[in-house]
Amino acid sequence: MTATRGLEGVVAAQSSICSIVDGVLCYGGINIDELAEHATFEEVVYLLWHGALPKRDQLDALKKQLGENAAVPQEVIDSIKSYPKGVHPMAALRTAVSSLALYDAEAQEMSPEANYRKSIRLMAQTPTLIAAFARMRKGLEPVAPNPSYSIAQNFLYMLTGEAPTETAVKAFDVALILHADHEFNASTFAARVTVATLTDIYSGIVSAIGTLKGPLHGGANEAVAAMLAEIGSVDEVESYIRQKLDNKEKIMGFGHRVYKDGDPRAKWLKQMSKALTAQIGRPELYEMSVKVEDMVTGEKGLKPNVDFYSASVYIALGLESDLFTPIFAISRMSGWTAHIMEQYENNRLIRPRADYTGPVNQHYVPIDRR
Ligand code: ACO
Repeated sequence: MTATRGLEGVVAAQSSICSIVDGVLCYGGINIDELAEHATFEEVVYLLWHGALPKRDQLDALKKQLGENAAVPQEVIDSIKSYPKGVHPMAALRTAVSSLALYDAEAQEMSPEANYRKSIRLMAQTPTLIAAFARMRKGLEPVAPNPSYSIAQNFLYMLTGEAPTETAVKAFDVALILHADHEFNASTFAARVTVATLTDIYSGIVSAIGTLKGPLHGGANEAVAAMLAEIGSVDEVESYIRQKLDNKEKIMGFGHRVYKDGDPRAKWLKQMSKALTAQIGRPELYEMSVKVEDMVTGEKGLKPNVDFYSASVYIALGLESDLFTPIFAISRMSGWTAHIMEQYENNRLIRPRADYTGPVNQHYVPIDRR
């Protein structure tokens, strides 16, 4: 038995949700470029869950269900209030989503219908949890969700209590579409491994959140924001990146396990970054990012991934940098739940083998003779 490090190139199962073929990313067979240009995030959620775009009445019904389920139990809000103020929002989200299960009467119910209802609740309530935590850590009261708002609009509204601009909602909605699914990425795979034991959907989502949190995965967008802040100005990019490359340090937001010729999502975020940073009068954020890209691509051949330009997009939208990965989780909740439901439909325990490299033929030695 020989191991494939990091399971690179290993096809772990069949899936009909999302494909990456020759660098082209599709949800349900539809190119991400078309979806980013024309779709809404709610249409994408439906597409991932049902394998086809919704008709108008189906979309209206989904939006109504998402709106009606956006409020979270008061017990969960009360418990978030008791979290230490300095904890990372991904740690808070991991705990809050786990506690949602405690107040869900269907938490252990395993029928496809119950899992679909729980997927709606998870999708609808994740933005509410994050916004509530973001406010309560500052000593502010949470803002109740508006059931008639879209997910993008509602999240931005719940953060501030003010109706967001149309431009902000549109940009945020496109960002949600771009992050919604990505076949067997680490967090989705973790979710599938978890539920393949036939445990409940909440357990699968908690695994996924914990996995997304890492800087080699979803945590990279926050790390990019920290890097831009450290660099500070366009003039400092060269020496900063030079030093990192000379020290063989990783540049966050670059490289990808699957895309070697560039991440198809990055161009959308790059163009949004240019427009939004100019609009808020901080074009240097975009200019710094482009200079970083030129150097890293020029010297290492590494292209920006989805996390690189999303950092400047979210900064331009006025979002706090430690909320960037939780925002990724809002979007990816659609993909995680789609994959969990697909896993349950055709389940087999996921249990690979290890290529053992430890000692052999050892014997038990009593403790006082070791
Ligand atoms: N900066 C500098 N060098 C890099 C980077 C980077 N961002 N990414 C890869 N490399 C180099 C590695 O050092 C390695 O070089 P070596 O062969 O000389 O040792 C080579 O490229 C291969 O890199 P691996 O880490 O083996 O590639 P892998 O496929 O395992 O990793 C990953 C992919 C984790 C995304 C990697 O590119 C990385 O760490 N990037 C930075 C973190 C990041 O942006 N993560 C977000 C990914 S997208 C997402 O999850 C949403």
